[in-house]
Amino acid sequence: MNRSYIENVNPPFFAIYIVVYMDKFVIQGGNELRGEVTISGAKNALLALMPATILAPGSYTLDNTPDLRDVTTMSQLLQIMGMDVKLSGKKLSIDSSGIFNFEAPYEQVKKMRASIYVLGPLLSRYGEARVSLPGGCAWGPRPVNFHIDGMKKLGAEITIENGYINARAKKLRGTRISFDTPSVGATGNLLMAAVLAEGTTMIENAAMEPEINQLAHFLKKMGAKIHGVGTKRLEVEGVTELKPTNIATIPDRIEAGTFLVAGAITGGKITIKNCIPDHLSAVLSKLEQAGCEIRVERSSISLTAPSILEPVDVATDVYPGFPTDMQAQWIALMCKAKGTSVITDSIFVDRFKHVPELNRLGANIEIEENVAVVRGNGKLKGAKVMSTDLRASASLILGGLIAEGETEVLRVYHIDRGYESIEKKLQKLDARIERVQTEEY
Ligand code: EPU
Repeated sequence: MNRSYIENVNPPFFAIYIVVYMDKFVIQGGNELRGEVTISGAKNALLALMPATILAPGSYTLDNTPDLRDVTTMSQLLQIMGMDVKLSGKKLSIDSSGIFNFEAPYEQVKKMRASIYVLGPLLSRYGEARVSLPGGCAWGPRPVNFHIDGMKKLGAEITIENGYINARAKKLRGTRISFDTPSVGATGNLLMAAVLAEGTTMIENAAMEPEINQLAHFLKKMGAKIHGVGTKRLEVEGVTELKPTNIATIPDRIEAGTFLVAGAITGGKITIKNCIPDHLSAVLSKLEQAGCEIRVERSSISLTAPSILEPVDVATDVYPGFPTDMQAQWIALMCKAKGTSVITDSIFVDRFKHVPELNRLGANIEIEENVAVVRGNGKLKGAKVMSTDLRASASLILGGLIAEGETEVLRVYHIDRGYESIEKKLQKLDARIERVQTEEY
């Protein structure tokens, strides 16, 4: 998607122009969305499943794999380590027999923080790992102290030098780990470390997100002994060996939620297929409070938007609470509601980079610490806006879908990290959105 070329002009001065093309979305707002959309596999499940294959050499197939930039980034990281990774259609084939390099370099980790997921499995299987420390992210600090402290409790020696986490352990040993607050990444990483440790590990205050549950099921299919999956207390009895297996990635609940909001914000009527409605309970209940009519079937959800959306307050929480990954989209939706709503992010206190951009579209949103007050007036006007991160980009697209006139969303490479062909899926629902190459960024 991003292309660059170099032109030499006017020797002998050798002026070099570098033109970087990026994609932007050009949206004509105002269409009600109608029809059906199929949800892709879950990015955050896959980003944990892929590194889990480090734990046992051999061939794996991960089905229902979405074609996403983050999947490409994780594939490149595993390839750098010596693994064979190929995506063919929806099937991701991984052969983890050839691992020779135990390092996750800065160049990969800076593209995607989830690269830290290789720490636990490398340490557990090979007794060493060198992983670049993820820095802050686009919306603020995101520490990894739970990952590091947990590995130390399992018996790893860890030093931080030149921006890298250097970890070593002859043999990890079971222990009791209790998080101050549940962390998706640290639960996944420590679970992958604990499955091959000697003895039993208790992980308390563990994350209960569906993506972590799927990782635990995958590890169990590989031969791990894990009890308490889906609860706050995971008990892992270490085993000496695991074996390769196959799995189909669960549907992406955040993509599903984003499309439901797209239906709701445009006053439309849509059905999302290939989803797990249970994973969306908190979002569905808020959509109903906003006046949407929801019909749930085994693996599909239909939504009919009301003529006037009610303002609904939301406070994000760990699963099964309202996901922080839907906070930006909910703020966009509340711009359309008639009245004032209060949206609190209790997971990431600084995650509001979309707010000034939505205000450029004419929204009236004020932020105080981790609370956004949205004064909905039902009206937005097209403008140029800038994506700063994945979910922020989604909220800007949602804003563009209802804005009067034309909206341009720049830097859509952020959205390509986590939404598969979003513009094609929206076009199928009658949205007027085009991907256009631009020199602007
Ligand atoms: N935290 C710490 N120390 C740690 C780890 C986390 O203090 O070592 C804190 C964080 O600062 C945050 C809270 O714990 O306040 C929860 O963070 P968590 O570790 O759960 O987040 P994560 O694992 O880094 C995953 C998702 C995010 C999602 C969060 C919360 C993946 C690859 N990423 O991140 O997804 O927002 O959980 O649900 O699974 C996205 O998809 O857009 C995205 C950012």
